[in-house]
Amino acid sequence: MAFFTHQICRGLSSSAVRHVVIKNVTIIGGGQMGAGIAQVAAATGHSVTLVDTNEDILKKAVKGIEGSLKRVVKKKFADKPEAGQEFIQKVMQNVSTNTDAGAVAQGSDLVLEAIVENIKIKQDLFGHLDKVAPAHTIFASNTSSLPIAEIASSTNRLDRFGGLHFFNPVPMMKLVEVVRTSATSQETFDSLLNFSKALGKAPVSCMDTPGFIVNRLLVPYMAEAIRLIERGHASKEDTDIAMKLGAGYPMGPFELADYVGLDTMKFIIDGWSAMDPSNPLFAPSELLNKLVAEGKLGKKTGEGFYKYK
Ligand code: CAA
Ligand code: NAD
Repeated sequence: MAFFTHQICRGLSSSAVRHVVIKNVTIIGGGQMGAGIAQVAAATGHSVTLVDTNEDILKKAVKGIEGSLKRVVKKKFADKPEAGQEFIQKVMQNVSTNTDAGAVAQGSDLVLEAIVENIKIKQDLFGHLDKVAPAHTIFASNTSSLPIAEIASSTNRLDRFGGLHFFNPVPMMKLVEVVRTSATSQETFDSLLNFSKALGKAPVSCMDTPGFIVNRLLVPYMAEAIRLIERGHASKEDTDIAMKLGAGYPMGPFELADYVGLDTMKFIIDGWSAMDPSNPLFAPSELLNKLVAEGKLGKKTGEGFYKYK
């Protein structure tokens, strides 16, 4: 069911702009990002369906959401544990799961994708959903590095397609990059911006350029840290300590790479390197490739640059 409203937008003075108010959300991909986005959307009163390829992954995602909500509640309802329990129950009532993206998309105002960082897989998914989702449904990708316009090119709704780039861990990170392509309509952009605000996030507007704002700066920084230890100039432990204590970062670059996922890091770097092979900032890393080949993908698999319990 679509909800329409009229709103005067900043920068558009008196012109009334029609945009979709997003209530029913399909999130595809129940990994670290999809589960985090589902949690935040459900906690702010949205009706959320989380989709992944099998029930086991979805069960793990729901368990992860409950675990994360407990951490939120421990702080938010420190003096009222019963109210905290009630909050968790209420939020979880807003979350359902499904393995059939097409069926769920039919009742959605927004389909937000947070699946593997692979252009072909994302295009196939949206190409299929475009045939079954209602006309008003907005599509968005949480891609870290891929061009939104290229993902959107598999659909016939270029005007209702944008980027919504969240940050890990989603419940804690305030930022959302709202990405518009040259074809994204003003109404779609406003809907995505307002949705981000409704989640309690602080949105910024970005053009559809590689890495948008944050990753264009952060990924080359993490890649250079890997090159630094490959050159033998410092250990990963000292590099992490240095960036935390010397630059005030909450995590060092190796802790952060493990947190993001080394497979995702590799997908980003390989994609940019293929796009611009002469740019030394995008040079692939042997060490990163080796760790990924060994299945050491970071915190999510128990080992990356570091080992995790
Ligand atoms: N869910 C809910 N609450 C959480 C949480 C989560 N996933 N993670 C942390 N918290 C809250 C909890 O209240 C936690 O207290 P408890 O452990 O008692 O539950 C509290 O935060 C403190 O957490 P930690 O003790 O684990 O450590 P911390 O103080 O260092 O905070 C952090 C953790 C917020 C992750 C912080 O280390 C940080 O900001 N790190 C940098 C993260 C970052 O840069 N993210 C961006 C990555 S790039 C990206 O996302 C884009 C891309 O496309 C790749
Ligand atoms: P992840 O590996 O934790 O989760 C991906 C999930 O997608 C898995 O559960 C997988 O089973 C599922 N999946 C894959 N193909 C699917 C399909 N066709 N249909 C349904 N589900 C499918 O990955 P993640 O870290 O959550 O990243 C997801 C996306 O978000 C990527 O595009 C990534 O670049 C982006 N992103 C990641 C981070 C990060 O820090 N990890 C931050 C911002 C954006």
